[in-house]
Amino acid sequence: MTTIPTSPASSAPAYPAPRRAGCPMDPAPLIGSLQAEAPLARVTLWNGTRAWLVTRHAEARRILRDPRFSADLRAEGFPFVSPSQLIGLERPISFIRMDAPEHTRRRRMLTSEFMIKRVAQLRPEIDEVVEQLLDDVAAAGPPVDLVKTFTLPLPSLVICRLLGVPYQDHEFFQRCSAVLLNQASDADAARDASDRLRGYLHELVERKAAHPEDDLLSRMISEHEANGDLNRDDIVANALLLLVAGHETTANMTAMSIIDLQQHPEQWAALRERPELIPGAVEELLRHLSILHTGVPRAALEDVEVGDTTIRAGEGVLISLQAANHDARAFDDPGRLDVARSSRSHVAFGFGVHQCLGQPLARAELQSALTAVLRRFPNLKLAKPVEEIPFRETMTIYGVYELPVTW
Ligand code: HEM
Repeated sequence: MTTIPTSPASSAPAYPAPRRAGCPMDPAPLIGSLQAEAPLARVTLWNGTRAWLVTRHAEARRILRDPRFSADLRAEGFPFVSPSQLIGLERPISFIRMDAPEHTRRRRMLTSEFMIKRVAQLRPEIDEVVEQLLDDVAAAGPPVDLVKTFTLPLPSLVICRLLGVPYQDHEFFQRCSAVLLNQASDADAARDASDRLRGYLHELVERKAAHPEDDLLSRMISEHEANGDLNRDDIVANALLLLVAGHETTANMTAMSIIDLQQHPEQWAALRERPELIPGAVEELLRHLSILHTGVPRAALEDVEVGDTTIRAGEGVLISLQAANHDARAFDDPGRLDVARSSRSHVAFGFGVHQCLGQPLARAELQSALTAVLRRFPNLKLAKPVEEIPFRETMTIYGVYELPVTW
């Protein structure tokens, strides 16, 4: 069983750290100053426990591919960045928080569903959803909140169709996942949201077992429950992970990409004139924005030397993907958005065995969304100054609550 270390607070700065007031697109200043000093720094979490924060690209990749660092939230010293995350210990866990061999076994059952080839077959359907949503945006006329009308419905509709979750329940599951991903939620609120979402998915899986359809939930039941590979709780844990990861990430990435490009009008213009740059631009936007902004958690299973530092067994580690993606040792002038540069080595989708399973789907949705927005609304503008847009400061996945635009 996990024991949560309770070392006294010290000079190690509090983490996660706030961004600079008025600069919602820039990483927290603390990240840059820690990165300049050393590849690893001690930080203090909300409950007074300490963790290592990894801020440089080379060390981030090294740690993420090293099996001596566990992604299992039951591992000694696993760093929880908020009270709401602790409830993960009380519930059946999904493979994102497991290690090999169990992680490998469970991930493998889903890889064919998210392969590049499989996602390419979904692309016409994704493009169709994009066009339909933008038809409604155009018909509504400016000003329009793009989060409500486009960036959130797009990935929600796609993941619902893929999994076999009824889209009409979107307000319910979006509300629950917003509570789960909010680091400001208290444990009771997170517990309640988790139970309600799991209860909902259990009922849905029950219905699919009785009346299978052509969707991923039905396939998990017929292919993996039937032969004892997965039980009902495992299927619900997988469904929860895919439903939440499948819509929150891409929704915020799409909205943030539009804002980032609006903040850099010459980059918007370049993409409008040369749409063939869009796939590369998506990679650069993933790097520049790094919306999983509070760090990927791991726990050291043994003492490990990283440069001059020894990370002791049982110590928690947070790998800041945002800091790694803004490391000048890996990317020239990293604060600059340059849609024409090669940013392929970014770690916005993580690195190593847990690297994002849904990345081909996320890329397809982002490319389709940006292509269509630039083509249909070439003169799009934010309807408010960026400083007045509410940003998701306390959320595990950074982004915006609304995106008012005009054209
Ligand atoms: C822009 C969009 C996305 C970003 C930035 C993103 C980012 C990430 C990151 C950083 C990880 C690694 C976490 C870790 O190492 O602990 C991850 C894992 C994962 N993501 Fe994504 N993701 C995105 C979209 C998606 C989508 C659309 C899906 C599903 C449909 C998805 C499903 C998953 C799953 C299942 C894992 C766990 C993989 C494993 O542990 O083996 N993600 N994602």
